[in-house]
Amino acid sequence: MNKLFLSLLLLLSLQAISQKEIYFSEAKFKTGDQSEWKASNFDDSQWPFIKTGTRWEDQGYTRYDGYAWYRIKFILPSSLKQNAYWKDSLSFWLGKIDDVDETFLNGVKIGQTGSLPTDVGGYETQWDTYRIYNIPANSSNIYWDKENTIAIRVYDNTSGGGMFGSIPFVKMLTQSDELEVSISSNTAPPPNYNTSVENISAKMVEGIWAISIKDGAIDKIIRSTSKAVNISGLKKITEKINMAGIAGNKRIEIISSFKEKHTGDIKSKSVVTPYILTPPVSAMPRINSALVFGVRPNSPFIFKIAATGKKPLQYNAENLPEGLSLEKATGIITGKVSVKGNYNIKLNVSNQLGNATQDFQIKVGEELALTPPMGWNSWNCWGLTVDDEKVKSSAQAFIDKGLIDHGWSYINIDDGWQNPERTNAGEIIPNKKFGDIEALGSWLHNKGLKFGIYSSPGTKTCGGYTGSYQHELKDATTYAKWGVDYLKYDWCSYEDVFTKEKDTSLQAYQKPYQTMELALKAQSRDIVYSLCQYGMADVWKWGDSVNGNSWRTTGDIQDTWESVVSNGFDHPELFSYAKPGNWNDPDMLVVGKVGWSGTLHSTMLTPDEQYSHISLWCLLSSPLLIGCDVSKLDDFTLNLLTNDEVLAIDQDILGKQAQQKIKTKDVQIWVKSLADGSKAIGIFNMSNAYKVVRLNFSDIGLKGKYIIRDLWRQINVGVSQDKYESNIPPHGVSLIKLTGK
Ligand code: GAL
Repeated sequence: MNKLFLSLLLLLSLQAISQKEIYFSEAKFKTGDQSEWKASNFDDSQWPFIKTGTRWEDQGYTRYDGYAWYRIKFILPSSLKQNAYWKDSLSFWLGKIDDVDETFLNGVKIGQTGSLPTDVGGYETQWDTYRIYNIPANSSNIYWDKENTIAIRVYDNTSGGGMFGSIPFVKMLTQSDELEVSISSNTAPPPNYNTSVENISAKMVEGIWAISIKDGAIDKIIRSTSKAVNISGLKKITEKINMAGIAGNKRIEIISSFKEKHTGDIKSKSVVTPYILTPPVSAMPRINSALVFGVRPNSPFIFKIAATGKKPLQYNAENLPEGLSLEKATGIITGKVSVKGNYNIKLNVSNQLGNATQDFQIKVGEELALTPPMGWNSWNCWGLTVDDEKVKSSAQAFIDKGLIDHGWSYINIDDGWQNPERTNAGEIIPNKKFGDIEALGSWLHNKGLKFGIYSSPGTKTCGGYTGSYQHELKDATTYAKWGVDYLKYDWCSYEDVFTKEKDTSLQAYQKPYQTMELALKAQSRDIVYSLCQYGMADVWKWGDSVNGNSWRTTGDIQDTWESVVSNGFDHPELFSYAKPGNWNDPDMLVVGKVGWSGTLHSTMLTPDEQYSHISLWCLLSSPLLIGCDVSKLDDFTLNLLTNDEVLAIDQDILGKQAQQKIKTKDVQIWVKSLADGSKAIGIFNMSNAYKVVRLNFSDIGLKGKYIIRDLWRQINVGVSQDKYESNIPPHGVSLIKLTGK
């Protein structure tokens, strides 16, 4: 056999060939950056292989940030083109790339997503975007029936790195690739749905368009229509979906799918209607506050008793320690306590229908955040466009929509509030988007809310705003003057200091957080300290030693199921680090309208994924920070955020994080021990189809008879000695509480 034939055979065995696509599960890989690495004839034979479906940090290149190259050689059979109905474009589907890529075919650039640090306008990540690059099939740069080389230059800013998300492949562009099927709803209840198919190519596309409405729980198609349609180039066709007679609050799947006539390819989209599980809040008084609150001696105390029920409510608190007083009409307790100790209070809330009582403990000592902080943060909705008005509107909505009555209390401004210059005295001041920030602080306090702010130990924040580097004490003093109750302290450009100091010891990671710890300690005000450095140097092992109340365990969350899985589900080993005053933080919530900018969109999570997201975060005893525009809260999201029995799992005073007890490909079961001896259990269906899951109590070490309560529905669903079975929607959850009987 000649040499060329042998190498062709080798290549063919590396590239799995199906009829229509050629997949690349591996590539040659090298860290660094040299422009000759893009050439097809560059000799990469000494480079090691790497998998293309998983980030490089998961494959031995731990903590490597910066440039690296992937090179893939493959034979492109002309049969691919001959067998295609459309023969005009070759299409590369490269999966996601963390953070920015420049892609070359045989040395010629065919695409780029994101901006490199050297690009005009500077670095901008596009880590969560699928790369699809199309090139004309008659391009002289494509070598049909010969070896081709795809070279991908990647720039990774921080964590992760490189190709991931799916196995890349090449194929001929087909009609269905050029169709966009969508389903949209208006927000007015009951929602009306439209579906459309848009042809983004210039050529006519023909096929059958089917729309169906399905009850997935019993696998029954309730209604369906289908018709033959031709869609001219660059045209969109839309249909209103007939929801008449379908119960407004049921979980229904709407599926719109288009089957292309010549290839048989199907392009479809489905949505699940936002179904509400939790009954409306009762008119009877109910106290929803956490059962414990920590404060330091002589620090200003501010706590609003969270309670629901028909207004007006009358609030009462017996045995308040000396120095505290309650405003009976609002339930706001303020003052200062000078003597350390545990004070047992009896709260009482009444209205014309009745009254509710609750034991409550104020612990005057050194510990703050005895239950995970609950509130709002501006980042996931407004990003750097945050301003005074946007903060106030979400805070006002906390009151108007009643979130404050369910225990939501922090209003936190994330990045983007700082002025580029400090005052002559070196003081940090807000930029023009904010007026009087001290006045904003007292406005929040007067309403019983708390005030949070954001900074970085570096010279600049991630968004390029002024950081606290070498101004830590000054900044902490300013925050205290403004009435700040919470600081998120984000590593960001501290990376430059860290790199310059060439010290990668544990102490070097801790140093910036210790500096701010001391600055906060020097204030005569309690400031909850939230460490944000994405889990570096196993922060959960030492966050407590720098007085951190919570620490981010991961990179930033996005509103996708993959992101919820990787931030929330993928770190079960951290459970032992959570305790009162110290919480693992898998990042903020991605329900409601999010966007990280001035433009908001509804979360891309399905309703089931949202139930799972909130359930898991509560089981994890995570800080709960709403990341959406609260002033635009829809009924579904409001319901999701105001189920007191679910929130009580997060706020449980034992402060234990759930343990992952069972993990199979399709099912995960997490169990959290609660202060009253009962267990909160999340049974998650990780698969894409409905699944009947049976939980055998013995499999999670439980013996005895239990009352089973469905926490989302707030109903008891039975008593059992041995098992619980439920039919769980795709990516959905059954969240239950087992109480011994
Ligand atoms: C990131 C952080 C985000 C947000 C952002 C602001 O590093 O993880 O939560 O704070 O910076 O620029």
